[in-house]
Amino acid sequence: MKNMNRRHFLTTTMALGAAAPSFMVKKSVAKNNMPIILCSRGEMWGRKVLQPAWEVLEKTNNILDAVETGANVVELDPDDTSVGYGGLPNENGVVQLDACIMYGPTHTCGSVACLENIKTPSSVARLVMERTDHIHLVGEGAKRFAIMHGFVEENLLTDKARLEWLKWKENLSDKDDWLAPVEDIEGKQRSSGTINVLGINAHGEVAGVTTTSGLAWKIPGRVGDSPIIGAGLYVDNHVGAAGATGRGEEVIRTCGSFFVVERMRAGLSPQQACEAACQRIIDINDPSAIDFNVKFVAVNLQGEVGCASIRESGGASPELAYWTKSGFHVYQGKTLLN
Ligand code: GLY
Repeated sequence: MKNMNRRHFLTTTMALGAAAPSFMVKKSVAKNNMPIILCSRGEMWGRKVLQPAWEVLEKTNNILDAVETGANVVELDPDDTSVGYGGLPNENGVVQLDACIMYGPTHTCGSVACLENIKTPSSVARLVMERTDHIHLVGEGAKRFAIMHGFVEENLLTDKARLEWLKWKENLSDKDDWLAPVEDIEGKQRSSGTINVLGINAHGEVAGVTTTSGLAWKIPGRVGDSPIIGAGLYVDNHVGAAGATGRGEEVIRTCGSFFVVERMRAGLSPQQACEAACQRIIDINDPSAIDFNVKFVAVNLQGEVGCASIRESGGASPELAYWTKSGFHVYQGKTLLN
């Protein structure tokens, strides 16, 4: 009954268009830098992700299709070991993916966690948003839902990721029976790479996606911030959008992306809001114990962007890339600790 009502309501409000209640269809005035699409990576991945996303946006003005197209690029690319196909697996050598999507005009969202054998979790998250009365599907249920919608089960563990996992497994302890070749021994950081794709179309409609394979070598079943609405992603059609990458546990316990959007609502610029969220994480930790990184990216309705991280990554300041009518740009953010 509840579902019927919601379906009826959605169909009716869509058909009515401009007559829909204002809380349901939030139109905001597109200004300055609009339309805009951005992602939480710099030059190389930025171009790969944003070029097809921008083409969709320019051709159709469909902001959901645009952010999903961008996210799919990195999900399908086996060279990226932190998102989708080719992502680093959990401690059992199984790739488990997390993703979510959010749409400003209806303030609706969908999400999947611990999804196995499906290459494009952000597209499954979109179907959860559009074709169910739920928000969050996990594990086996999420996979079955994807297969019902025509997604194909595939092996997501590439040889590159499998060899990295094997190296980790063999070097984990000198008290087990795994032996590594001598040259393998090294202290590599565990990756928790992710990508956020955020956008605003010419009508001021806001949307975003966050997608990841999560923390490398995680305990099976671990869910990071990426599929948690308000943590790895948050969108508000009256304010803008924000996304997080890096150590998910810190982002979850500070409701990171929601925090950024609420700071923008209170009047901060996207840059100030991203820095405030990093500062909040620093404040709740013992500074000497901060051996992790978190990065936020954000955009407001004027098309201003912001980017901040707790630490540098690979010796570099945090970056985001964005695409507007004036073309491709890379924005240098700020690091709070050195
Ligand atoms: N931010 C990605 C994760 O922690 O899973």
